[in-house]
Amino acid sequence: MNFIIAVDGPAASGKGTVAGALARHYGLPYLDTGLLYRAVGVHAQAAGGLDEATAAAVAQDLNAALLDHPKARTREAGEWASRVAAHPTVRAALLDYQHQFAGQHGGAVLDGRDIGTVIAPQAPAKLFVTATPEVRASRRWKQLIEQGEQVSYDDMLADILCRDERDRGRSTAPLVRAADAALLDTSEVTIELAFREARRLVEEALGR
Ligand code: C5P
Repeated sequence: MNFIIAVDGPAASGKGTVAGALARHYGLPYLDTGLLYRAVGVHAQAAGGLDEATAAAVAQDLNAALLDHPKARTREAGEWASRVAAHPTVRAALLDYQHQFAGQHGGAVLDGRDIGTVIAPQAPAKLFVTATPEVRASRRWKQLIEQGEQVSYDDMLADILCRDERDRGRSTAPLVRAADAALLDTSEVTIELAFREARRLVEEALGR
């Protein structure tokens, strides 16, 4: 059994923080799959638009250099990512890379929306990380303000709700908790507590 930890959840739920901390703790490589969709969104936008043909062409040619884009972590990149992520051919083009990452010898930690359901349904440990929309909007708002972006909390909350709806409602690989994923609600806990609980859930899942 390969030691894969699948971490899914909505935007700004804390899944990236939890996944990164688990990867460091267990000494596993970590992939933030949202970055793949963000990179496709940024480069498709620059290449002419977020339509399926343009975005799929970008996704097919995605490489490490393209992932390292200064705009990839911005608010608009999150929106573009969620739009291109709804195209089935874009998702298909990114499958191989994610499968290879998940399947590497020794295991891996991946976070995203469909890791436990589509990319690595065989993962022995799955977490679904969540928090209220208000808490998530407030976290993302603080991050963006620190990065120098001008955005109001209300606009951030509207973004989060819109992205949730699009990610949950799409027909291919929608955001959904896998039946065997443990739920981790980070609304009212510190990062340290969330990580401790995540570890406990992983170890419980491995012991089953
Ligand atoms: O996780 P992050 O907020 O960076 O993801 C940006 C967008 O990429 C999400 O809103 C979602 O639409 C898409 N995504 C996805 N599947 C993944 C990871 C991200 O559809 N595995």
